[in-house]
Amino acid sequence: MSFDKKIAVLTSGGDAPGMNAAIRAVVRKGIYHDLKVYGVYHGFEGLINGEIQEMQLGSVADIVHRGGTILKTARCPEMYEEAGQKKAAQQLLDKGINALVVIGGDGSFRGALALAKNGIRVFGIPGTIDNDITGTDLTIGFDTAVNTVVEAVSKIRDTATSHERAFIVEVMGRNCGAIALRSGLAIGAESILLPEVPFDLQEISDKLLRGFRRGKNHSIIIVAEGAGNIWEIAEKLKEYSGFDNRVTILGHIQRGGSPSAFDSFLGALMGGKAIEVFLEGKSEVMISFSNNDVIAKPLKTAFEPKEPFNYKLYDLASELAI
Ligand code: F6P
Repeated sequence: MSFDKKIAVLTSGGDAPGMNAAIRAVVRKGIYHDLKVYGVYHGFEGLINGEIQEMQLGSVADIVHRGGTILKTARCPEMYEEAGQKKAAQQLLDKGINALVVIGGDGSFRGALALAKNGIRVFGIPGTIDNDITGTDLTIGFDTAVNTVVEAVSKIRDTATSHERAFIVEVMGRNCGAIALRSGLAIGAESILLPEVPFDLQEISDKLLRGFRRGKNHSIIIVAEGAGNIWEIAEKLKEYSGFDNRVTILGHIQRGGSPSAFDSFLGALMGGKAIEVFLEGKSEVMISFSNNDVIAKPLKTAFEPKEPFNYKLYDLASELAI
């Protein structure tokens, strides 16, 4: 079978709910169009080690509703080195494959670009709960993670109200406050701390006290992990306000669980689009969700400078939490 009839797919970096729906779409649409589709296990690490298996229609049965990734994932330092990149490309070429769909974040897209330099046609599908990839309005997994945060905070709220306490809740986002901002706005957090926006803990503490004096019986402060050390933030707030608080770190529960309907839907659309652009003969493409549509853009778009932080949502959240 010729090169133009074969394509592989892998997941890389942090897993995200909805990745399975994207894998399923790549496999099923590929087979529908008479392609041989291969799954690469354990991300780029598995690729370097030749963990490549042909997928059948049944390989992706009963997975759309499951979190995680059936192909497993890994972070792979070897892919930063030229030797690793060449080895990874060669593993595909040896099997007569010269096309690869990479589902992951921008680090994974960098790996894809390196493979393109070694003769592989590459297609990037943005999959990360962080929603931090330039060139797409949304990434697979973000919606589910936000829903997970909202559900968890509504439970925290019950105990916070009973004890009339402030809770400082840490959500994921090492470099990006997208989860914190969207979930904070959705749950009506009193304050939202993001890596993108400087904050003043004295002001936040004053606001906390104003709220309690006005009769509020609980307070929720959402902190993105990249905004600072949660324990130091909590300690300072206690010191400034004289008010007891509790810390909850939501951690990796945000990466797990069944995908939301939207993430399964987005996974299906993006996986399908990747096969569509493969059949059109394109390469170095990223699949993007832009203006409510799934479109193809040059993969290098993901490495363009980030757009300046959009204060609209942040300001609204502040206005609603007076
Ligand atoms: O998936 C993205 C992300 O969740 C970040 O928000 C977080 O900092 C990081 O991955 C942690 O991932 P790991 O524990 O797998 O290194």
